[in-house]
Order: sequence, then C-alpha cells, then structure tokens
Amino acid sequence: MRRRTLLAGMAVLGVGGGKAHAAGAWVLVAGATGRTGRPMIGILKSKGFKVRAMVRESPADDLGADETVVADATKPETLAAAMKGITYVVSALGRGRGNSGDVDDAGIVNLTNAAKAAGAKQLVLMSSIGAEITSPTDTSVRRPEIMLAKGRGEAYLRRSGLPYTIVRPGGLEDCDHGKSGLKIGMMTVVEFQAGGRPVICRADVALVMVEALGNKDAIGKTFTLVGDTSAPVDAWRATLAAMKRD
Ligand SMILES: NC(=O)c1ccc[n+]([C@@H]2O[C@H](COP(=O)([O-])OP(=O)(O)OC[C@H]3O[C@@H](n4cnc5c(N)ncnc54)[C@H](OP(=O)(O)O)[C@@H]3O)[C@@H](O)[C@H]2O)c1
Repeated sequence: MRRRTLLAGMAVLGVGGGKAHAAGAWVLVAGATGRTGRPMIGILKSKGFKVRAMVRESPADDLGADETVVADATKPETLAAAMKGITYVVSALGRGRGNSGDVDDAGIVNLTNAAKAAGAKQLVLMSSIGAEITSPTDTSVRRPEIMLAKGRGEAYLRRSGLPYTIVRPGGLEDCDHGKSGLKIGMMTVVEFQAGGRPVICRADVALVMVEALGNKDAIGKTFTLVGDTSAPVDAWRATLAAMKRD
C-alpha cells in the first residue's frame, strides 16, 4: 500500500479497519519513533496487520508503516483523526526526545478516551515494573513521580471499559525478539531488585504486545514481563493463558 502522512484533522481515507481479529486489521502505534515502537512496526507487519505510525514529527527515516499520522498524546484534539478506522491501539509511549509533557498520565488518559470514542477494540499499553507503587516517598524506585503517573494512566485504562492489556516490563535492552524465554507474572519492583533487575529486549516486549491483540488470553490482564534464559522461548504463552483477569 502507498505510504501517506496524515495531519491531525485530515480525513483518513481508504482505511479498512473493523475486523474482529488480527490479520488485516489496522493498528495505531503510539510512540512509533521510539526504541520499542520501531521494532513493533516490523512485528505487526510480519503478522499481517496494517500499521499507522503516530509521530509528533515526521522522522527522517522510513518507519516501515503503511501510514504515518502526526499527533501528540498530550493534545487530545489531535487524536481523533489518528484513530479513524483503527481496530487496535498499542502504546509504547515514553519520554522520548524533548518535552513529552505528562505522557504517562494525561497522555494515556487522552489515548484511552480517543480509542474508545473511535470504537477501537483494544488498547495494549506498555507500562513498567514499579507502576504499582502508591507513595511519592517510596524509595524502592528512583523517580517515584514517574511510576505514580504510570500507575494513574494504567488505572484510568482499566476503569475505562475499553478492552485492554497492560504490560509492565523490567529493564529494557535493544536486542532481537524470539531469542530468549520470557517470564510473565506480577513482580513488584522490590522483587525485581532483589532478583538482580532482570532485563528484557524491547523487541520481545513489542512481540508480546502484538500477540495480545484480539487475544482473549490477554484481554483484561495486567502483568510484568522480564527475560528468563532458563525458560523455553514460547512458554510465556501458556503462562499468560493461565493467568487470571484483573
Ligand atoms: N528504560 C527502561 O528500562 C524501562 C523499563 C520499563 C518500562 N519502560 C517504559 O517503556 C516505555 C517505552 O520505552 P522506550 O525506551 O521504548 O521509549 P522511547 O525510546 O523513549 O520512545 C518513546 C516514544 O514516545 C513518543 N512520545 C513521547 N511523548 C509523546 C507525546 N506527547 N505524544 C506522542 N508521542 C510521544 C516519542 O516520540 P518522539 O520521537 O517525538 O520523542 C517516542 O516515539 C516508556 O514508557 C518507559 O518509561 C522503560
């Protein structure tokens, strides 16, 4: 398909979203220029999804998406056009380059509202181990205010009525997906630190998020995710299926 850049407010034409499941459905990737968003686009394409990359500024390089839309998660008025015709939304939003505003809190609230208003079927959110803390004086994390903001964003999505999946990864590294086992669970940040701060490839986080789309085993679940070299590469799928909903 021809690649296009759409400006917020422009009509989105020729978008064939609305399929109930996976292949062929349109996915909006928020945070598409980021270190997790970029490999996620390739994984989505390899599984037959149509991808609309959401960017604040058009990047110099080709992200590999079918379409690119300019929008900012902290500016709700830019999101309706980005969502048009979208079946699934994935968020790999983070602080990125320059001023990200309150992307973890207001950004996720805005994304949730816009996805719901547009009739999206699911939002898959990349959060973080540590998002469970509840006090600004919690010393178990370096920047409690960031984890509290992530916790508020998560809580809003869980309450929204929009089908969701929330993934809380451990320490992120840039490496290929599908090479290591993964451990899915509900690890607190205290357990994470006591366990030697296990890392995970950003691309493996992207893979799990993509596999959550339209997947009844993942909907309504919040879980932590770290690498586990002792586990078989695909064993995480059975763990996820067995996990209870929130
Ligand atoms: N570092 C870790 O070890 C760790 C561990 C667990 C979880 N996490 C979390 O994982 C998430 C992803 O991390 P990452 O390293 O892949 O992120 P990243 O490389 O920093 O990318 C963040 C993306 O968000 C975009 N963005 C920022 N503010 C935005 C806004 N207001 N509207 C639209 N897009 C915006 C950035 O766009 P621009 O290109 O325009 O800046 C960029 O594409 C973050 O939330 C991070 O906190 C990190």
